[in-house]
Amino acid sequence: MAAKKGVIFSGMRPTGKLHLGNLFGALENWVRLQDEYHCFFCIVDWHALTTAYEDPVTIQQNNRDLLLDWLSCGIDPEKSVVFLQSDVKEHAELHLLLSMLTPLSWLERVPTYKEQLQQISGRNLATYGFLGYPLLQAADILLYKADAVPVGEDQAPHIEFSRELVRRFNYLYEKKVFPEPATLLNEYKLVPGLDNRKMSKSYDNVIEVSIPPEEIPARVRMMITDPGRIRRDDPGNPQVCSIYAFHHILNPAETKKIAAACQEGSIGCVECKNNLAAALQKYLEPYYQRRQALEKDPHRLQDILDEGRKKAQEIARGTMEEVRSVMGLT
Ligand code: TRP
Ligand code: SF4
Repeated sequence: MAAKKGVIFSGMRPTGKLHLGNLFGALENWVRLQDEYHCFFCIVDWHALTTAYEDPVTIQQNNRDLLLDWLSCGIDPEKSVVFLQSDVKEHAELHLLLSMLTPLSWLERVPTYKEQLQQISGRNLATYGFLGYPLLQAADILLYKADAVPVGEDQAPHIEFSRELVRRFNYLYEKKVFPEPATLLNEYKLVPGLDNRKMSKSYDNVIEVSIPPEEIPARVRMMITDPGRIRRDDPGNPQVCSIYAFHHILNPAETKKIAAACQEGSIGCVECKNNLAAALQKYLEPYYQRRQALEKDPHRLQDILDEGRKKAQEIARGTMEEVRSVMGLT
């Protein structure tokens, strides 16, 4: 195998089951990166607590679900380091030490901070932990000296924040301890939900990657097609149809044919949906099989996390020794 190109770090909050938007928008990208980079994939349970601190009971279950989703979709613990953030306490130590040199104003001006403060209602987010969210994220990334971070566009400001912090740190302590992590934007794929808005848990319009195969047809039937099409032979507009968007992702070789049939009214939406359901079943089948096997073997999940923790810790400890040393703590 060719030498790997560098270090990649990414994380997800354990907030529930992964859906097809997460799969096509992020996870499949991670799976591809595993062969080219030294990858660290982290279940960031402390980040989940920044907003769910009043309701911590679900976090354990969510950690397990997220790990199952990752593994069944092709994250491979033989190739990548897969671990739980709270298992590696160095994340907390680095967060603390970095907080000494992080100007408050940098945190206050991160765009996601103000947006989320306004959007998330019913929870008190005027907390120290929530303000420090991007700093904890920077600690995650820097601990492994990541060269690049694959994320969606919404996370770009956090990676930018990490780069600024790296420059400040390396400048203050006159040593290039950390590389500046690059933002690796996930290949942009708009995955529509059942209602044709973006697929998102907050819109309640998702299809989970773990959906049992027999439930797929009913879920696909709920999806919105071209509302202008009433009779079977009405000419349709595939561009406004979420079924079509999915065909585009799942079988790009067929999309021209489907678009033409739709536009000339030679295929009905029922048939088109049935075709999609069948394609989706076929696509998700190997993921489902792998998941079934893993669910029968709960010890394997714990073993994977234990193994990941050991590998992550080894790197994290080395970095912390360096950080303590330049900050005068040894
Ligand atoms: N903030 C990220 C999200 O909500 C999750 C995350 C935490 C992360 N730490 C990270 C992503 C480090 C990339 C790198 O999606
Ligand atoms: Fe959508 Fe297919 Fe119906 Fe056209 S025929 S509107 S692409 S479901």
